[in-house]
Amino acid sequence: MEYRAQRLLSVLPSASAGVSQTARTLKAEGHDVIDLGLGEPDFATPGHIIEAAHTAALAGQTRYPPTDGTAALKTAIAAKFQRDNAIDYDPAEIIVSNGAKQVIFNALMATAEPSQKVLLCAPFFDSYENIALVQGLTPVVIPCSPDNGFRLTAELLRDYLTPDVRWLFLNSPSNPGGVVYTRSELESIAAELLGHPQVLILSDEIYEKILFDDSEALSLASVCPGLKDRILTVNGVSKAYAMTGWRIGYGGGPRELIAAMTTVQSQISSGACSIAQAAAVEALNGPQDCVAHFCDVFRRRRDLVVERIAGIDKLHLSAPGGAFYALMGCANLHGAVTPQGEVIRSETDFVQHLLQHYKVAAVPGTAYGAASFFRISTATSDDILTDALDRLAQCVAELG
Ligand SMILES: Cc1ncc(COP(=O)(O)O)c(C=O)c1O
Repeated sequence: MEYRAQRLLSVLPSASAGVSQTARTLKAEGHDVIDLGLGEPDFATPGHIIEAAHTAALAGQTRYPPTDGTAALKTAIAAKFQRDNAIDYDPAEIIVSNGAKQVIFNALMATAEPSQKVLLCAPFFDSYENIALVQGLTPVVIPCSPDNGFRLTAELLRDYLTPDVRWLFLNSPSNPGGVVYTRSELESIAAELLGHPQVLILSDEIYEKILFDDSEALSLASVCPGLKDRILTVNGVSKAYAMTGWRIGYGGGPRELIAAMTTVQSQISSGACSIAQAAAVEALNGPQDCVAHFCDVFRRRRDLVVERIAGIDKLHLSAPGGAFYALMGCANLHGAVTPQGEVIRSETDFVQHLLQHYKVAAVPGTAYGAASFFRISTATSDDILTDALDRLAQCVAELG
């Protein structure tokens, strides 16, 4: 019996969640596995945020919230957009959802006709592709070359802007490539888009607080105000405040777009958890020193990984400019032979070998449209990361 609808046949479950599930199973069997699959901060949610949730629950904020988000949270988000991103969004131009993922899901569901195209810049967050597929849309992958730091350019984009394109997804800082776009890069991409008014742009800025070196987190809607009525700015509290489990994401965009997304959301989930929304208000309005602290730690780990990988001949890693991933090139390992006599033919072979024999879980790059690469998350303690990098180095050294 085939239970799945036709459009589900090409949809994959989240790659990182799958890897982490395998790692959990191996751990439960007693193996000493290091899971570098899942992209979530290893920090606890700061205490003042948890206290705000507790207070809200005791105060009776336990009923259905407004579908598009509580007034308190939408006001806090509008202030945050103004303060951090120099974008004016009225509360009516804001929606709160169950994670940024649901914002993205709502946006496509509300706006795209079956078989319209969604442009993705590879390497991309794997859910972009699968959220498009689950809705019967056509994801189109723009391969952004590692030689150009995985960056989309206006020239590259030009060839993909056909009349059936409905959305372009941009993500800066990006998962998994760690790409951070500069102002002039965004301006030239925007200039290209001006002549294609049917295209909406989703600017996923969820890693904006995890930014290294001298880069600046720039919001497309503030850099390119001429496009603002076609931009959905996506963000959330998962990554910046170590709140992945609270499931609060939000989007800012044109009023009619937000209203259409709210209609979708009203029939999916009726909105996001009222108590988690109260926590998110505190996250956005409360003390921000935790955010700077998390970023410092992620920077230290990024440096640790870059330094160690530079010492492993056959792997390649350009220093990520933001987010907490390392996307490593392993093309030089193709054709290598494992101590067990198996030939490594792809990054998937390598990742499986690494997990099976060295007990480190990583995600094959194919999930992100990046064959010959694999991703590790650096959101784990320095000690565990060091242990994992030792195992990775040993794994590569023992290949023939
Ligand atoms: C680029 C990107 N956007 C969105 C999300 C989803 O975040 P949320 O936890 O808010 O659903 C993730 C999570 O990994 C991500 O990497």
